[in-house]
Amino acid sequence: MTQPAKPEPVNLSDFEAAARERLSPTAYDYYASGAGDEITLRENHAAFDRIQLLPRVLVDVSHRDLSTTVLSRPTAMPVMIAPTAFHRLACPEGELATARAAAEMGIVMVLSTLSNVPLEEVAQVGPSPRWFQLYIYRDRGVTRSLVERAEASGYQALCVTVDAPLLGRRERDVRNRFSLPPDLAVANLLHYLPKESQAEAPQSALNAYFARLMDQSVTWDDLDWLRGITSLPVVPKGIHHPEDARLAVEHGVPAIVVSNHGGRQLDTAPATIDLLPAIADAVQGRAEILLDGGVRRGTDVIKALALGARAVLIGRPVLWGLAVDGQRGAERVLRLLQKEIDLAMALCGLTKVSDITSDLARWPH
Ligand code: FNR
Ligand code: LAC
Repeated sequence: MTQPAKPEPVNLSDFEAAARERLSPTAYDYYASGAGDEITLRENHAAFDRIQLLPRVLVDVSHRDLSTTVLSRPTAMPVMIAPTAFHRLACPEGELATARAAAEMGIVMVLSTLSNVPLEEVAQVGPSPRWFQLYIYRDRGVTRSLVERAEASGYQALCVTVDAPLLGRRERDVRNRFSLPPDLAVANLLHYLPKESQAEAPQSALNAYFARLMDQSVTWDDLDWLRGITSLPVVPKGIHHPEDARLAVEHGVPAIVVSNHGGRQLDTAPATIDLLPAIADAVQGRAEILLDGGVRRGTDVIKALALGARAVLIGRPVLWGLAVDGQRGAERVLRLLQKEIDLAMALCGLTKVSDITSDLARWPH
């Protein structure tokens, strides 16, 4: 008897379930896991669920426009692809598939330093809004070289991750002894590493690899140093505290990413959406605020924008799309989210992104 056809994923959670069936348990756990008890991981989404949207009615919503700008550049919708490591664990084309999906959708992809495809090859996918994420390495020569390569390849901004002096402890990875399969590489870093550690690097646990290369002494002075060696906008990712948001603005950044790394770093850190109002208050419109963590619904995107974000980033859902059907799968995930945003806008009485105001979102008394 033939098996009945599996129903098509109709939302981003369905994509996670479908991806789980296709990925090895170790790869699925690497993507899905959070640090410690995964409290922040769960909170990121639960906090969106606690917020309500209060719609307006009798508004002509027959024409709706989801486009906006981030750092003055157009994007088809207020959604960007968050930097996530190792896309070839999900599909053979890896980051090339993601970059093609982003280009097709007209949205920004932030490429992780820890990509399996070199940043130059990703750039060859063609012109599309694209940012490069980096960490500050102990070896400032490596950091500078990555910056120069990103600039030469046409990346439009540098997203510097500031919440990871060390990697959080993801216990699923510890149990699974997660390491990159030998045929996959940390492609951007290959030629900086001595031959022997090239062979060893992918095999060793990610945490040890990270601890060896990344600088745990990084401070605001290093952010200034980074700004000084590049003409690209520098966008710190991993801001939690309103005071750090204020400091970032004082250090002259044009945008910040409110992020807890998808619950993968400090467990029990608050959900990002709960932090947003105080951060928006501290920033006072002096920089654009981006937010990631737990965005899974069009209504989540509206809530984030209502509370002060310019745009959101999504991490895991893109990986689920890649695992289900490569580039096409990533596009399907993004299209589902786009449709949900469009519908939510219509039902809220909104026709354009700039109509999204703070009175839309509320917490029940
Ligand atoms: C990440 N994230 C991340 N961030 C970063 O700055 N550099 C990186 O290399 C990675 N790698 C990475 C791998 C995986 C598997 C995940 C799930 C996440 C964090 C990422 O950019 C983003 O902050 C979160 O993924 C957002 O949360 P959601 O959308 O996954 O809930
Ligand atoms: C992670 C790192 C690589 O979250 O940022 O796995």
